[in-house]
Amino acid sequence: MTDRYAVIGNPVAHSKSPFIHAEFARQTAQDLVYERILAPLDRFASAVEDFRAEGGIGLNVTLPFKLEAFRLANECSARAQEAQAVNTLKFEGSAAYGDNTDGVGLVRDIQLNLGFHIEGRDVLVMGAGGAAQGALGALLDEKPARLVVANRTVEKAELLAERWRTRRGLSAEIMQASGYAELAAQQFDLIVNCTAASLSDTAPDLPQGMFARDCLAYDMVYGKGMTPFLELALSQGAGRLADGIGMLVEQAAESFLVWRGVRPQTRPVIEALKAR
Ligand code: ATR
Repeated sequence: MTDRYAVIGNPVAHSKSPFIHAEFARQTAQDLVYERILAPLDRFASAVEDFRAEGGIGLNVTLPFKLEAFRLANECSARAQEAQAVNTLKFEGSAAYGDNTDGVGLVRDIQLNLGFHIEGRDVLVMGAGGAAQGALGALLDEKPARLVVANRTVEKAELLAERWRTRRGLSAEIMQASGYAELAAQQFDLIVNCTAASLSDTAPDLPQGMFARDCLAYDMVYGKGMTPFLELALSQGAGRLADGIGMLVEQAAESFLVWRGVRPQTRPVIEALKAR
């Protein structure tokens, strides 16, 4: 029988995951279907139950349900525990296994697809919401020289940085928190925009001169072309720009691996999405 998977979210109509997983299934000759489920905002758990009752065996979870999915899972991977968020559910009998592939998707895109090595570099993460929370563990795994979390609401960045310092036993030099204005006179090799600013066509208010000459400026959003953040990075001399399309495909590939035990090739799918 054909195995059933889906992406669940609200909204979900824009999701490219059905296309990506259909490509992965074709490439690896796996017998599966992958749908979209629009869950009402107050009915995530029952929408998941309905899907399981109909024989569904795996879900990708997108906004705004990643925290609820973490609570719903009866067992979680270490990376999902650390992020306190789940974007991948795998059902086996009565068990729901939760994982989070967002951080590893980001890091695989940065290192393998874009050829930028994080170890020993100065890294800035902008934003302190769910997207930043999902990215920090995987970035820290690569041992940057320092990782600064900056946020408009500084207290949220401080809480996040403190949590990761404690969890990983890191010094206040390696894991820092900041507001944007306080970043003046600092430079970074990698700046990742994990804020929701690009969605409203704005950019965080960054001081001049923060982009090192070979800096990679990475915006997690995709399909928006040159966002205000990427424009800013270009105008301030960042050497390389990237949007989140590679991360999207890499996190999907990692979910596919969790479900099917096979790692699909991502490059042809990234190329196909860019061409669309
Ligand atoms: P997500 O789960 O996508 O990260 P979120 O938890 O709502 O969404 O977090 C959104 C992040 O984008 C926050 O860090 C928010 O900053 P605040 O905590 O100060 O609200 C940030 N953000 C949203 N719009 C922004 C803007 N125009 N400029 C700067 N930061 C912005």
